[in-house]
Amino acid sequence: MDQKRKNNLKKKIFIKTFGCQMNEYDSNRILDITKKINYFPTKKKAEADCYIINTCHIREKATEKVFHDVGRVKKEYKNKKKPILIITGCVAQAEGDLILKKDNYVDAVIGPQSYQSINKIIRDIENKKTQHNITNFETVKKFDELKLINNNNSKVSSFLTIQEGCDKFCKFCVVPYTRGSEYSRNFEDVLNEADELISKGTREIILLGQNVNAYNDKNNKRLSDIIYSLQKKKDLLRIRYYTSHPKDMTKDLIEAHKECSKLMPLLHLPVQSGSDKILKEMNRKHNIKEYLKTINILKEKNSRIEFASDFIIAYPGEKQEDFNQTYNLMEKVKFINSYSFIFSPRPGTPASDMKRVDEKLAKKRLIIFQKLAENIKMNYKKKLVNKIAKVLFENKMTKEKDKYFGRDEYQNPVIVCSKKNITGQEKKVLIKKFSQNTIYGELISSDNFLAA
Ligand code: SAM
Ligand code: SF4
Ligand code: F3S
Repeated sequence: MDQKRKNNLKKKIFIKTFGCQMNEYDSNRILDITKKINYFPTKKKAEADCYIINTCHIREKATEKVFHDVGRVKKEYKNKKKPILIITGCVAQAEGDLILKKDNYVDAVIGPQSYQSINKIIRDIENKKTQHNITNFETVKKFDELKLINNNNSKVSSFLTIQEGCDKFCKFCVVPYTRGSEYSRNFEDVLNEADELISKGTREIILLGQNVNAYNDKNNKRLSDIIYSLQKKKDLLRIRYYTSHPKDMTKDLIEAHKECSKLMPLLHLPVQSGSDKILKEMNRKHNIKEYLKTINILKEKNSRIEFASDFIIAYPGEKQEDFNQTYNLMEKVKFINSYSFIFSPRPGTPASDMKRVDEKLAKKRLIIFQKLAENIKMNYKKKLVNKIAKVLFENKMTKEKDKYFGRDEYQNPVIVCSKKNITGQEKKVLIKKFSQNTIYGELISSDNFLAA
């Protein structure tokens, strides 16, 4: 078959995604791009002509995991035609050379700021079968090209990346090295993409960035400007943003939490530690007094607001009293959701050479902390029972008849029964009971409801 005919054949592409929401956004955008060369998404990984592993480098064993996954692909395709195998994401950026050198089954590594050129790379691989290492930081070019390609990933709740990269250089973190320096997309481009998503059915937009509240485009538009503009969009019901840095919680953004009814009353504001000494060691650029002040002002502006946070336990140099301060902060703020991990040394970061806390002690501290976090979460959920929550329904559950899945304003997963299709609608729900991860309720504003 001649090349032109071959290029016109429909092919299948599968992406396995690890890491943060930005990686999810990127995976979806890669699928938008590859449609242009007739590669269409499949959920069946064993039938893919092109197999992509979109990787995360944030914690330990990330590179080993990639080799593990490559091994799995090899096994899966042992008796079939080899797929084009591409590693994208933050491990590709940080360890691209090593990956290509160690395993020639991998056809290409592409960093998070260069995936706009994936079609050319796939075509090159189809034709010449050479290995590619594309890890330039081409953020501006990437977004300039992406805006020309429709975002076909509209769901009831959709991600929209508005900012990338980081200039803060916390000593433990790989992000400044894998995603490059801070870059804010053009304000108008962001709103155009939002319009596109809303016109296709999106009712909630989650604005994304490694430091989303550092957003500042070339005309000095800030995150609050985007929020105020989205507030005016008729068919949009909800706005969220993450992840934010405490230092970038500016007055205008705090004010938006009072003024914008569509901005959800849950703020993910990673603190990392409750000890000023450790925060300084981490190069976090904020202290606990400032952090608590921000939280208090936000509460004054909007009394319904609740907080979620990230914690690193057993950072190098963490003494018992530092850990106690983190524990006390958790007790004081009562974060309704938290993500806590033991410090993981990342290659190339300043903290990677520092003396680590004894492993057993680190694990003990993590268990103690997570127990407290879980108790706080459960007590919070208990208080929700018999109360009314506003839930945006995202989809009908596939395995259970007449059950719909949605999230309340605090992003808690909620399940109800309904004979009517309520996908995409915001409904009032009476909360009846909860499990560790889910809340069950009854619709109260529908003329056709059943008990969950
Ligand atoms: N920009 C956000 C901020 O300033 O908090 C965080 C983004 S980072 C992708 C997500 C979370 O990963 C961090 O909040 C931190 O808790 C965790 N993390 C990053 N590096 C880590 C490391 N070396 N060990 C353990 N956790 C880490
Ligand atoms: Fe990493 Fe966030 Fe620190 Fe940037 S601000 S270096 S993304 S933890
Ligand atoms: Fe992971 Fe990169 Fe996101 S390291 S957390 S995929 S920015």
